[in-house]
Amino acid sequence: IKHVEKSWDDELQQLVQTLPTEQGWVSGSSLYLYQGFWCSPHVLKPLISCQKHFRASDSDVIVASSPKCGTTWLKALAFSTLYRNQFTRDENPLLTFNPHQLVPHLEYYVYLNNPCPDLENICVYKPRLFATHVPYASLPTSIKDSKCKIVYMCRNPMDMFISFWHFRDKLRDESKELLSLDEAFDKFCHGIYDHGPFFDHVLSYWKASQENPDKVLFLKYEDLKEDISCEVKQLAMFLGVPFTEDEEKQGVVEEIAQVCSFESLKELEVNKNGSHANGNPYKVFFRNGKVGDWSSCLTPAMVERMEKLIQEKLDTSGLTF
Ligand code: A3P
Repeated sequence: IKHVEKSWDDELQQLVQTLPTEQGWVSGSSLYLYQGFWCSPHVLKPLISCQKHFRASDSDVIVASSPKCGTTWLKALAFSTLYRNQFTRDENPLLTFNPHQLVPHLEYYVYLNNPCPDLENICVYKPRLFATHVPYASLPTSIKDSKCKIVYMCRNPMDMFISFWHFRDKLRDESKELLSLDEAFDKFCHGIYDHGPFFDHVLSYWKASQENPDKVLFLKYEDLKEDISCEVKQLAMFLGVPFTEDEEKQGVVEEIAQVCSFESLKELEVNKNGSHANGNPYKVFFRNGKVGDWSSCLTPAMVERMEKLIQEKLDTSGLTF
């Protein structure tokens, strides 16, 4: 096994040397361009392991997103909707665990230190529910080829950018410096951040959802903010677990929306004081959860630049922000 690991590490080293690289947003960090998207070196190994070894089953559900587009919210909603008959309202594991513990990330957790993780053990509830930040084209082949379902969450890129900049700031080592908002924005517009470029990511899932709407459900953070009940019902329908008339009458949809809301999750002990195995506090996933926060943070010139980019990149795709 050691021999196999060593040759795999050598192979990875060789690969890394061939990849275009850029400086990340935090001093001393770097990003590598792998299969057309930027990722930090520590994600490359688990990502490639996952691509090589993960075998999706038809009943799996994959929650996909670009970072800071509402992954935590979507994880909470998918978990509560899919498994609602497996625990009582007061025993919802979301009350004591962070959504990231309950819906394991393929490249940031499941394959992080182990190329052959025990997936059945990792997924306590069935059907299995996993998350990923990988663009559609780079998903493990079995996810694309099987009948497993994918739910994608996107968000206005300006809100996503502000959220990401704050997130990076909160998680950085004190000895490291973060790019100024201006500098980071320029990198963002060039697609240089973890899992960027933004528009390639979003469009990859948008196209997949247009081509195969039974396989990929495309959701927008802003739509969830506007009418959460409608979106939760759509999610349940897509996942093959529609709410019954009785459930709707009993207010189950609103209950799920409430338990997964920003205000509820943020106040839970686990999310206020708990932390991930890697030491990152869970509270960094809950900042202010608003739509349009960008308007008080970006200059008119930045907004103009982004609006042009949105127009140019989304073009005739039918997708709007
Ligand atoms: P802000 O930084 O704009 O507040 P991700 O989960 O993909 O890391 O995204 C984090 C963003 O989603 C943060 O945005 C966070 O506050 C917001 N968020 C987290 N939980 C949420 C929830 N339950 N409802 C709405 N927004 C939520």
